[in-house]
Amino acid sequence: MSKTTRKKIIAGNWKMNKTRPEARQLVEAILAGTGGRQHLPVVILCPPFTSLADTIDAVRDTGIQVGAQNMHDKTAGAFTGEISAPMLTDIGVTHVIIGHSERRQLFGETNSSVNLKLKSALAHKLTPILCVGETLDERDANLTDSVVRRQVAAALHDIDKSATDHLIMAYEPVWAIGTGKVCEADEADRVCKLIRATISGFFQNQEANQSGSQRHNCGDNMPVLYGGSVTHENAPQLLAKPDIDGALVGGASIVAEKFLGIIDSAQRLVQLAPSPV
Ligand code: PGA
Repeated sequence: MSKTTRKKIIAGNWKMNKTRPEARQLVEAILAGTGGRQHLPVVILCPPFTSLADTIDAVRDTGIQVGAQNMHDKTAGAFTGEISAPMLTDIGVTHVIIGHSERRQLFGETNSSVNLKLKSALAHKLTPILCVGETLDERDANLTDSVVRRQVAAALHDIDKSATDHLIMAYEPVWAIGTGKVCEADEADRVCKLIRATISGFFQNQEANQSGSQRHNCGDNMPVLYGGSVTHENAPQLLAKPDIDGALVGGASIVAEKFLGIIDSAQRLVQLAPSPV
């Protein structure tokens, strides 16, 4: 199967930034910069909860999609301050970031809470953008591959392989997030490939254990993004790699010109790609 079937995806994680008027301005600038263009990558904007509805209104009929940055795994109940998957889909949210390292490090999210959120998102037809990645200590101790494999396996525990049709993965090395230290493109590509292979292997094993049936690569069409200090300067090298299907962008996603520059890089690669025969 040709890898070109996977489209490039540029997702913007605004984190806790932008009031509603500021969000409206940013979306307008992004729309002005992308409007009427051909060969756009898939663009997903992930504003804070308070600007989700406005952003959804603003991007209606433009092809740009909107994601949340987090959700609770339960659908309703006594969970003060939380937002559930049905609340998100109700207003037209289509994607949700799950397991971002800031949630894991600052808000106590664990591999098992990530697993519950992933199940709830999939059950409510939200496309999860599932983040995994190692800390600097883990990288220095040569633990990158084992950490990433463990996070992937724990997140997918008890989840059916059909999930890979509705899942976006993001490799986000913690040491690269918000630090200006981008992961070198070949290394980011290697880990993205490892993530795809891990997921494929995970479901092949599950399938073999369940039925002894024919194995197939269920991860082939699943997008794997890179995130961590992506800018319009380093995006061309990263996005040109065969196993990096796009970028999850933090800091540079809240400045229209910078985000548009990253979209441009993805767009140029799509234009350069040979058309499928
Ligand atoms: P950054 O953040 O681009 O600011 O490093 C990426 C992320 O947190 O998803």
